[in-house]
Amino acid sequence: MAAITMKNIVKQYGDGFPAVNDVSIDVADGEFMILVGPSGCGKSTLLRMIVGLEDITSGDMMIGDKRVNDLAPRERNLAMVFQNYALYPHLTVYENIAFPLRLAKKPDSEVDRLVREASATLELDEHLERKPGNLSGGQRQRVAMGRAIVRQADAFLFDEPLSNLDAKLRGQMRTEIARLQKRLGITTVYVTHDQTEAMTLGDRVAVLKRGLLQQLATPRELYENPGNLFVAGFIGSPPMNFLPATVEGNRVQLPFGSVDIPAEKAERSAGRGLLIAGIRPEHFEDASLAAAEGRTGSTFSAKVDAVEWLGNETYAYIPFEAPDEVKQQLHQLEKDLDGEAMRTQLVVSLDGASRIAEGQDAEIWVDGRRIHLFDPASGENLTVDHTRAGRLPGREGAGAGVSA
Ligand SMILES: Nc1ncnc2c1ncn2[C@@H]1O[C@H](COP(=O)(O)OP(=O)(O)OP(=O)(O)O)[C@@H](O)[C@H]1O
Ligand SMILES: [Mg+2]
Repeated sequence: MAAITMKNIVKQYGDGFPAVNDVSIDVADGEFMILVGPSGCGKSTLLRMIVGLEDITSGDMMIGDKRVNDLAPRERNLAMVFQNYALYPHLTVYENIAFPLRLAKKPDSEVDRLVREASATLELDEHLERKPGNLSGGQRQRVAMGRAIVRQADAFLFDEPLSNLDAKLRGQMRTEIARLQKRLGITTVYVTHDQTEAMTLGDRVAVLKRGLLQQLATPRELYENPGNLFVAGFIGSPPMNFLPATVEGNRVQLPFGSVDIPAEKAERSAGRGLLIAGIRPEHFEDASLAAAEGRTGSTFSAKVDAVEWLGNETYAYIPFEAPDEVKQQLHQLEKDLDGEAMRTQLVVSLDGASRIAEGQDAEIWVDGRRIHLFDPASGENLTVDHTRAGRLPGREGAGAGVSA
């Protein structure tokens, strides 16, 4: 096992397009690192550079303390678990797992020991004599992992391994991969565009946008302290609401009224004119329910356009007006996020017990402590401590490195 260190990694394809643009990520020994971002952000390219399937334009790729830029894939001792599992249909599960050991001409006794160890870990014992074609998607995935395990690779690399499984199996496999990774303690780099996978699997998550690293932090840090508008809009479902805002004293003026915010947040964003406030749907509540629970915060009155009752929660939709400056930034964000629609409509998630109805003026409570304030020009989150949040200062736009 080994740490993987990426230092100022750049990948320019033939046409000069910087698919990966000056990315530095340190994956600790035994860590589960997620690479996440919308389609085309450079996740697969970065993973392929780690494993050696793609040349590195510039920067240093280190495995342990060895620079591997010029090493062939087989010299890097990494195991890539492919999306299509790459199993041999004519071989049994046993021989599929044993394959790399046979290639390395290991003695039968050693092959047998390693295959049986792996199959016990993966709970594949009863399937060893079967052919991959007769296995479920999840079982095939485990066979592919078994092959990686017997190689005693320094790290596992996954590129969207669950994307062609149905939702239920995807959930099961997700838990299984998490459990196995913890048990094996093997350094893992896992590419996904699925934020649920990113949040549940990763010790840390690297969020990429158009080849640029946006934030490298724990899932909780990404959710609680997103470094910029992009990360804030990418992490969370339904997504964070973005509203025009101005700060006056310890209050922030929103389209619906003003809300108290902590002094620290007010100080960080004072005197900056028009800002974009970010508030997650779950940080609102039906004011009558919030009052009954004695929650402190601000309330406002707003006309509810539509309501969706889901039993455990209720979504209420509240339209608002926004100046062009804010609309333009939200439109750009929508493009960056790959089409996730950023409407000038507030989505609030209320307790399912709420009686708020369509067409009504409703009293809504909001948790002012959880409000984020973003600079509309740079997208930077003004309300977080960036050194703590793991964001890389000055990397919002094209920044340093190679520009498109
Ligand atoms: N062989 C290639 N030649 C030129 N450009 C390429 C090549 N492979 C990828 N790219 C470009 O590099 C960028 C990053 O591609 P990459 O495959 O790494 O994205 P990704 O984040 O894995 O996306 P997805 O989620 O769609 O798999 C894209 O803009 C893509 O068009
Ligand atoms: Mg990809």
